[in-house]
Amino acid sequence: MGSQVQSECEPAKRSPLLNVIAEVLCMVFDLVKVLSISIPLLTLSVVKILVPSKLKNVRGQTVLITGAGNGLGKAMALEFANRGSNLVIVDVDLEAAERTCAELRRERSVAAHAFRVDVSSYEQVEALVDNVYKNVGPVDVLINNAGVVGFNFLQDADEANINRMIDVNVKSVIWMTKHFLKRMIERKRGHIVSISSLAGIHPLPWATVYSTSKHAVNGFMGALTEQLRLQGHADEIRTSCVNPYYISTRKDITDFLKKPRFGILTTEYTAKCIVEGVLRNEATITVPRFFGLGVKFMQLFPTRVQQVIRDYILREYELNSA
Ligand SMILES: NC(=O)c1ccc[n+]([C@@H]2O[C@H](COP(=O)([O-])OP(=O)(O)OC[C@H]3O[C@@H](n4cnc5c(N)ncnc54)[C@H](O)[C@@H]3O)[C@@H](O)[C@H]2O)c1
Repeated sequence: MGSQVQSECEPAKRSPLLNVIAEVLCMVFDLVKVLSISIPLLTLSVVKILVPSKLKNVRGQTVLITGAGNGLGKAMALEFANRGSNLVIVDVDLEAAERTCAELRRERSVAAHAFRVDVSSYEQVEALVDNVYKNVGPVDVLINNAGVVGFNFLQDADEANINRMIDVNVKSVIWMTKHFLKRMIERKRGHIVSISSLAGIHPLPWATVYSTSKHAVNGFMGALTEQLRLQGHADEIRTSCVNPYYISTRKDITDFLKKPRFGILTTEYTAKCIVEGVLRNEATITVPRFFGLGVKFMQLFPTRVQQVIRDYILREYELNSA
């Protein structure tokens, strides 16, 4: 429906009191409509949590993952390869991208292509799209994964690091999506996935700029999803925004996280949850799933109560203490 949604109550020349009554009646009528449509949708969502829907088939399809030379990106590439997808591995570190490709070809027997690209560069991303469509073919699933993870307080972060974090974590997602979306719309199919973080829905005091960058990714993906719906592309082009908790991808991350309240996720487990969520066309994927509900529940409360939850349940103050 999107752009076809219109108020059925046209303004008419009436007395001010009648106008107010008409407005109120319209509002009540719209509310009844919202409830009658939402209740079955809500029931369906609960059923889907209890009985997960079937995974879509991606055998023979092309999945492009940025930052897949290492960490989570590489683990997701292996997960997609397990399901018969061909991979395009994009990384600023070409050696790492080629290592991932060699492993995919050797151990999973799928086609894999490596490209050296700094995804924070508009020009390099523009050239990448032409290069991929010319030499590999159309992309079915785009995964914006490349990111810079960093823990520090704002006053300790220097200008260069802040710029890099915003460029890689935010601008790259916009550049990649902007360029690939055009081709997906022309082809009338595609799936755009962006890896944000739990720090993108729950402000993390130990990583102020990182948390800011990931909130931007969630905002971008939310707006994009609604844009596609408004333009009538929602059934052809899917979106997923992913919010994982801490993952043991790199030693500097596990070294910093001395006392995470709920442990640290393994890279393989996180990749599996994400790929399954994508294959179920889930618009928001939180790993672990119930952490997303926890954050929403917490946000119902006033700030002071949220701080009590942070202090006694999340114990964020001791995250980095010996
Ligand atoms: N590790 C965590 O605890 C955690 C938690 C939640 C979300 N995430 C998110 O998951 C994603 C992957 O993180 P990770 O832990 O696997 O990181 P990682 O450092 O292990 O891997 C990131 C990869 O991205 C590449 N890269 C960095 N900048 C790039 C650029 N400008 N252009 C192209 N490639 C670039 C790197 O070379 C590397 O191969 C990130 O977006 C991160 O924010 C990580």
